[in-house]
Amino acid sequence: TPPTVLVLPGEGIGPEVVRVGRAVLEHVLDRAGLPATISEHAVGRPAYERTGQWLPDPVRDALDQAAAEPRGAVLFGATADEPIGELRSRYDLYANLRPARPLPALHAVSPLRPERLEGVDVLIVRELVSDVYYGRRRTGTDAGRRWAGQEMYYREDEVRRIVRCGLGHAEARRRHLTLVHKANAIPDVFGLWLDVLAEERAAYPHVDVQDRYADTMAMELVLRPADFDVIVTGNLFGDLLSEITGAVLGSLGLMPSASLSPTGFALYEPVGGTAPDIAGTGRANPLGTIGSVELMLRHTFGAPRWADRLAAAVALAVGLWRTPDIAGPGDKTCTTEEMGAAVCDA
Ligand code: NAI
Repeated sequence: TPPTVLVLPGEGIGPEVVRVGRAVLEHVLDRAGLPATISEHAVGRPAYERTGQWLPDPVRDALDQAAAEPRGAVLFGATADEPIGELRSRYDLYANLRPARPLPALHAVSPLRPERLEGVDVLIVRELVSDVYYGRRRTGTDAGRRWAGQEMYYREDEVRRIVRCGLGHAEARRRHLTLVHKANAIPDVFGLWLDVLAEERAAYPHVDVQDRYADTMAMELVLRPADFDVIVTGNLFGDLLSEITGAVLGSLGLMPSASLSPTGFALYEPVGGTAPDIAGTGRANPLGTIGSVELMLRHTFGAPRWADRLAAAVALAVGLWRTPDIAGPGDKTCTTEEMGAAVCDA
């Protein structure tokens, strides 16, 4: 059966970038002669205004059905908080892959000196369905003072599957893995991560393994990003480190992501949010969404050569066309739609 792709634009810049992402996907599938069943559904605020539900029941049914298929996928835009967290945990989309490779044409938009960007090719593997974000929440009052707590919690099996995922990707790439943790200050949780890594690395004798404190890693990603290949970490640190990586590339709008479940069901989305500051102005950069389509071609469609061709088209398009976030001083800027058209032309 051909893949089923559910397109969920969401709100803010979500619909703007996903419109372009879907057009690029359809263009590539058409050229490649690859079949797919594609349908689009409202979620988030537009759905809430119409139905009173952030994730309406019929959309949930369509997602359940796609998740049960061998090659189901979602192309997601952005929503303000609801319902992306629910989607991630409901479908166990535990492995969030965030590749970052600067395009030579865009070296000048990075805040880093060009020589620091030479050879940068990082894959952040972020655990996505556990950690403090899903931990037990409590609040109370003690002697008249309010207190609040949210527990950082990981189960061994949750750690093991993401560590394995990181090692597997490292083996297929440059064979270098960095586990990011905070075992000095949070010894039980990250002691578990380090124990699991020590066990699992035995199965990957060719992968060079190291670990870093999260604070040190934040600094090194800015100073020496080319030193890293695969970075595997928990939900919270992965969130922070991928924003740093986006900044290193020059714009958050460039960052794609794939979130994979154990069954192969996958959600593809740009790393940024609804960007209320630029929504509705045609200024949103669609390249993070187009990069997410590239990941979909690779993982869901099993079409790596078409994914490579799409990446090459993006590299060509940015030589001439720039949305405002990646334009240098004096560069002529283009709209979200124009950038998408330039990629299709290329
Ligand atoms: P944001 O990612 O929406 O925006 C941060 C900055 O990056 C803004 O200056 C924005 O203009 C810029 N930016 C983001 N994507 C861009 C693009 N494609 N092109 C050009 N510039 C881009 O983060 P913010 O403002 O903190 O959050 C806004 C809303 O989005 C919040 O409600 C947040 O909860 C939600 N959010 C949703 C996510 C999701 O649906 N997966 C992920 C992150 C945030």
